[in-house]
Amino acid sequence: MPARAAAVRLLHDVLTLGRSLDEVFDRHVQGLPSSDRSLAHALAAQALRWRVDLDRLIDGACVRPLAADARARQVLRVALAGRLRLGTPVHATIATSLALLDGGPRRLVHAILARLDREGATLGDVPTLPEPWAGRWAAAFGPDAVTALRAALGEIPPIDLSLARAVETITWASRLDGCSLEPGHVRIGGSHRVEALPGLAEGAFWVQDLAARQVVHRLGDVAGRDVLDLCAAPGGKTLQLAAAGARVTAVDRAPGRMALLRDHLVRTGLNACTVVADILEWRPDQSFDRILLDAPCSATGTFRRHPEVLSRRHPRDLAALAEIQRQLLARACNWLAPGGRLVYAVCSLEPEEGEAVVATARASGVELQGTERLMPGTGPGDGFFVATLRKAIG
Ligand SMILES: C[S@@+](CC[C@H](N)C(=O)[O-])C[C@H]1O[C@@H](n2cnc3c(N)ncnc32)[C@H](O)[C@@H]1O
Repeated sequence: MPARAAAVRLLHDVLTLGRSLDEVFDRHVQGLPSSDRSLAHALAAQALRWRVDLDRLIDGACVRPLAADARARQVLRVALAGRLRLGTPVHATIATSLALLDGGPRRLVHAILARLDREGATLGDVPTLPEPWAGRWAAAFGPDAVTALRAALGEIPPIDLSLARAVETITWASRLDGCSLEPGHVRIGGSHRVEALPGLAEGAFWVQDLAARQVVHRLGDVAGRDVLDLCAAPGGKTLQLAAAGARVTAVDRAPGRMALLRDHLVRTGLNACTVVADILEWRPDQSFDRILLDAPCSATGTFRRHPEVLSRRHPRDLAALAEIQRQLLARACNWLAPGGRLVYAVCSLEPEEGEAVVATARASGVELQGTERLMPGTGPGDGFFVATLRKAIG
């Protein structure tokens, strides 16, 4: 019961107030035993992954439409996520749901749950992607990609770890009972509690999606090179660059996120120079022949780990984000040395934040050498757009 009450509060904060699940989780499960914390997370996460399909069942069983933010709808989403995704028995589902409500909503929820049970309601094999993203992605990437994206939304993703010392890859893959897909990387099951893993406190690794690692690889061999890491916090890519032997200058305007980056550096024993500054105002006192710009974006490519991003974001946000990305990219291009390479990345699936942004870079004196789109479901992990740009010599 406390786990379900917490899951309802989490859904309210995420879907009505637009917060992220990670951001509000601790507050709503404070004081609960770890089994209840895990159940609250599982219920909320399943409700977010399957939201479109759960709402369709709820709407089909309602005589009068239920408001999107009604408490009864949140309770029903949690109840059905438990019943249809986690296998909670029907009697427990009804009893625990009714205990969260009073009066009319209580009778309504009872009637809907009983009706759905009588009718043998089920979910499909994969969740439905919410609109307007589903339509946009079908138009941009085609039906096969959408099938893979739906499957990706339905699965709890594995946890990818990057190692501070790549020579320890085999050791840590074995100690953590994981597998490695490239040197310096270990993948473990998504149900692990990272805080409880051996090696974390000693700084042997940090959590970093495998697709995010590919972004850094596009800079080539960085050992012994000066690399400017723009929009660096909380620092997964900074750490990866430092672990690869680069002399990194990491810049980000968010002090709290930069504090996390510094904590990671201390924990792992890696080095980087950190600068808290707004890139639209700051400038470096040297040029760099390797620059990474991991720009702020809609983050639609991260929906496997953060399904709520598809509810929190809307395509109308894209124009403003793209304008900032263009400005950041123009600044970064100024600081690239002749012959130097700049990698621009966003964890977004939206062409407005990818192809359309780098198409403007020629005006800043750089050549586009190539672009790539890493797709959830078929790629190594989260979705990314990555472009490699070069400044001509002379
Ligand atoms: C996608 S995140 C970066 C993730 C990071 N590269 C990593 O691998 O952990 C984007 C970052 O851009 C930063 N940012 C946004 N606008 C900025 C600006 N004008 N100047 C500096 N940093 C900015 C945000 O604070 C945020 O940390």
